[in-house]
Amino acid sequence: MRTVSAGAHRGRGTIAAMTTDTTGTAARNGEPRRGGPADSPFVRACRREPGPHTPVWFMRQAGRSLPEYREIRANVPMLESCRRPELVTEITLQPVRRHGVDAAILFSDIVVPVAAAGVDLDIVPGTGPVVAEPVRTAADVERISPIGRDDVSYVDEAVRRLVVELGDTPLIGFAGAPFTLASYLVEGGPSRTHAKTKALMYGDPDLWHALCARLAEVTLAFLQVQIDAGVSAVQLFDSWAGALSEADYRRFVLPHSTYVLGGLGAGVPRIHFGVGTGELLGAMGEAGADVVGVDWRTPLDVATGRIGPDKAVQGNLDPTVLLAPWPVVEAEVRRIVEQGRAAPGHVFNLGHGVLPETDPEVLTRVVALVHELTARPER
Ligand code: CP3
Repeated sequence: MRTVSAGAHRGRGTIAAMTTDTTGTAARNGEPRRGGPADSPFVRACRREPGPHTPVWFMRQAGRSLPEYREIRANVPMLESCRRPELVTEITLQPVRRHGVDAAILFSDIVVPVAAAGVDLDIVPGTGPVVAEPVRTAADVERISPIGRDDVSYVDEAVRRLVVELGDTPLIGFAGAPFTLASYLVEGGPSRTHAKTKALMYGDPDLWHALCARLAEVTLAFLQVQIDAGVSAVQLFDSWAGALSEADYRRFVLPHSTYVLGGLGAGVPRIHFGVGTGELLGAMGEAGADVVGVDWRTPLDVATGRIGPDKAVQGNLDPTVLLAPWPVVEAEVRRIVEQGRAAPGHVFNLGHGVLPETDPEVLTRVVALVHELTARPER
């Protein structure tokens, strides 16, 4: 029996997928159940299998573009909201209800596991993560403790609640990759040039590798908690890796990202994403991704040539295009859908996160348009 989960019709979106099957995802008569998140258009595209349409979700779909998000976050600091499972659940569901996206992404932040590992930091509105004592020495690295489920029990609980609420809609878990986390820890906050990070990387490679190895352990453990709690896929955000040449990426970053993605095994699809990574797409795929995220600078057919035929792609609408008149948005969505057909699997997304000033109605229209353009007859 299918039951529409409570609250599924509260939003204005075209929600159809928010159903809970009381049999869960358990096998029936030894046969895997059809339906359920593992058989969703999103997971199928990640696995390069045909599906009913090209799936769509948006990085930062849960966030300040939504009035219901701004309202619920009004008096709750960012890190605190990430540690309250009932808030995490509600915020994660908001864009699914409103837009009818094909996947939810856990509401959290890349610095949540680092804070759980003992690093003193905060997320400052309008700025981003700010670290009280930036990492400079081997002793600073030693103070980053390993984490387990008990250190992030709020994430475990939120994922378990969400899996029930979402029914057939998959939930994406995520973490920050070692380079991007290291950049925040070494700079002490967001940086345009990553100058201190690179100075440490080039000037003290042993300390750099020790820091990244420690961060890789924390990240792997954090993703494993989410997988054990039931997420259907994970995304490793190496947002700032595009600051590096391919040679430096391969030497200073790839071994650590490979440790994380390889350590997870192939149980759920692994998405690996960065910004400005046109020159790194092949190497990022080699780190152990099933899906490589592409920003707006590289057309998806070109990206597929660089990544190879054994991986799906995700992307790549420029988030600023959503601020343009609808005919411009529509033309760009059509172009990306066409270029995505060159890939063995395509998950439609933006090339980076939704900007806070985006009109949410436009996001809803993009979801409907991609579904319409890519609808395939039932087989
Ligand atoms: O919907 C989703 O995508 C899930 C939520 C999510 C957040 N952060 C919530 C958030 C995800 C996936 C992240 C990851 C994250 N956080 C990344 C990697 C993705 C990327 O954007 O490249 C990075 C680099 C961070 C670090 C970070 N946290 C930044 C740069 C900021 C923005 C600062 C600001 O105020 O503009 C944050 C804060 C943050 N994380 C917000 C949200 C919704 C905004 C805080 C708020 O709403 O007050």
